Amino acid sequence: MRLSRAVNIADLRAAARRRLPRMVFDFVDGGAEDEITRDDNEAAFRRLKFRPRVLVDVSERPQEVTVLGRRLSLPVILGPTGLMRMVDHAGELAAARAAEKFGTVSVQSSGASVSLEDVARSATTPQWFQLYPWGDRRTIEHLIGRARDAGYAAMVVTVDVPVVGAREKDLRNGLTVPPEVSPRTGWDVLRHPRWLASLLTHPKPTYANFVGLMPDARGTSGLAAHTMGMLNPGHTWRDLEWMVERFGGPVVLKGVMTAEDARRAVETGCRAVVVSNHGGRQADSVPAAIDVLPEIADEIGGEADVLLDGGIRRGSDVVKALALGATACLIGRPWVYGLGAGGTAGVERVLEILQTEIDRTLALIGRPGVGSLDRTAIQQDVVRAL
Ligand code: FNR
Repeated sequence: MRLSRAVNIADLRAAARRRLPRMVFDFVDGGAEDEITRDDNEAAFRRLKFRPRVLVDVSERPQEVTVLGRRLSLPVILGPTGLMRMVDHAGELAAARAAEKFGTVSVQSSGASVSLEDVARSATTPQWFQLYPWGDRRTIEHLIGRARDAGYAAMVVTVDVPVVGAREKDLRNGLTVPPEVSPRTGWDVLRHPRWLASLLTHPKPTYANFVGLMPDARGTSGLAAHTMGMLNPGHTWRDLEWMVERFGGPVVLKGVMTAEDARRAVETGCRAVVVSNHGGRQADSVPAAIDVLPEIADEIGGEADVLLDGGIRRGSDVVKALALGATACLIGRPWVYGLGAGGTAGVERVLEILQTEIDRTLALIGRPGVGSLDRTAIQQDVVRAL
């Protein structure tokens, strides 16, 4: 498919689905258990309606926002997603390239398949580093030091993975790290020869940042088992305090779903939170991220930046989130659909689509720029019911 013919994110998702083996597409698209939360992230945006105003001069509609003191041209950040070379050989490098092209930033997963140093070298502006506090303090300290030395501008600590969520499709599909052509996956993979050729001609995707650090980062095993061996479910706020101190720069806490935890994050020295349920890939039956945004924005808005991810598939979703108190949004699956549909150019197409949709939405609801958004842009009885 020619990327310019993809009209919206759903088109790119469909293109990625055609190009990727099912086990890889399901890894990206799937959620935990019954996928209640994954689906509700999107459904909750659909429930929210605008209060459009008319006869407002909307000839200018700037989209700039300031996050952690840095100006972004677009209120969309490319969220951390690991193992992206499973989707396309450009992998995580594609996110950094596309972000730079659109004047925004990417968050590089510690579970990336390109090392954090390689990403930093390929970029001309500092990206953000996402830390999974896996392993013991020595391992964590080592990763934090590497991120600092490589010049990352901020560290996002993801705290909603004390154990791995039950992504049942991955179990059923027999997905392993690195992915393997086995009797179980063979037919699926053979039907996607372009993907197979890439797997055979490039180094196999694995957790690049952990190679040599942990024995589990070598060898092949089921995705959940592979990751589970590295997790540490014993972490508390005291550990976070230590991580904030070790990094020295701005820290963002990702995976916050309540006002109490948002308050605690600010008290622990975090400069921002990401309101997130991990795209419904961890706990199932937790609320949609957008539904808990107002309570968190009420609690810490003005003191810290409030970011949100989960379920954003349209520029209008970004506008809704900003109206309800988000400083900016992160996207996960959308950029990965773009990567699967067409590598780096596909990721750029995702940002182009969202930018155009945000622009059009602002005009159609009578808001001259993202700076003019507030809760009055959203039908109030819906907000009160949240
Ligand atoms: C993720 N996510 C994630 N989060 C994180 O902090 N570190 C990571 O390595 C990953 N890896 C990852 C892989 C894949 C394939 C997906 C889809 C997601 C979660 C991600 O950052 C984000 O929270 C959600 O994807 C947001 O929901 P949407 O935009 O996908 O609906």
